[in-house]
Amino acid sequence: MSSYISPPGLAPSFKMKYTPATWKIHLFFLLLLLSLLCTLLFGPVSTLACPSPATTTTLIMSAPIKVVVFLGSVREGRNGIRLANMILNTLRNRNIDVEFADAADYNLPVFQKYGFQYTAEDLSDTQTSKLAALRNHIREADAFVAVTGEYNANLQPGLLNLIDSFVPDDYAKRPVAIASYSIGPLAGARTHGLSRALFGNLGAFVIPKIVAVPTIHEAISEEGADLTPNKFHETAIGDLITELTWYAEAIAAKRKNDSA
Ligand SMILES: Cc1cc2nc3c(=O)[nH]c(=O)nc-3n(C[C@H](O)[C@H](O)[C@H](O)COP(=O)(O)O)c2cc1C
Repeated sequence: MSSYISPPGLAPSFKMKYTPATWKIHLFFLLLLLSLLCTLLFGPVSTLACPSPATTTTLIMSAPIKVVVFLGSVREGRNGIRLANMILNTLRNRNIDVEFADAADYNLPVFQKYGFQYTAEDLSDTQTSKLAALRNHIREADAFVAVTGEYNANLQPGLLNLIDSFVPDDYAKRPVAIASYSIGPLAGARTHGLSRALFGNLGAFVIPKIVAVPTIHEAISEEGADLTPNKFHETAIGDLITELTWYAEAIAAKRKNDSA
């Protein structure tokens, strides 16, 4: 069974054989043409139906994260600055907004009161305004890094003095990365448990990954360059910051959601 139809507008001499099979073939090519047109205009269907994780992250977390890096070593000739500089370089190279909270810049007396309670009689105007600015940076931060040297198997007093100068709420609900060091082989390993207790009690939490640098004076230059042949510490710091960023972005998205 077949029928002969002359499509409207065509010369009567042009006769096309329209069988059910011909219709199917024409319909197939029409749909193919339409899908090609859609792909050109809107991109592949898979992208529309299932955005990649990267796309989703970009949509939720548009603002870059802010990180405060703490260093508690104030000793002349301090080695801690080597590790702090390596971390600062890594963060800046990733275009992360960084504030360096260097205890040596604040010249704080041994804890007497919270930073915001000091008056002009206690500290200079410069010191009090610098402390107020640091408090704002801490409150606005999405994450922290603490560089921890080890004195007599304990955290450095300069770090504790600086951290204690602010209240727990200033640190709460943000991830913290700990990077320890020492001139000996133990790499300040004992500060990790102490730091977890410290920041945990402030309501922040220490991320699982850690960095521990032994014989720091030989391993990292004062400017923060890795002196080891295989750039071992640079890689470890890179991985630490990647993990910290992951937690920081996840928590920042939650905070944003809570405040919306
Ligand atoms: C008072 C004091 C105590 C120290 N205690 C330790 C220690 O317990 N464990 C360790 O590995 N190194 C210890 N060291 C050596 C430090 O690892 C080394 O001096 C390091 O450079 C200290 O950090 P800083 O140079 O940033 O001050 C101690 C050093 C000092 C000055």
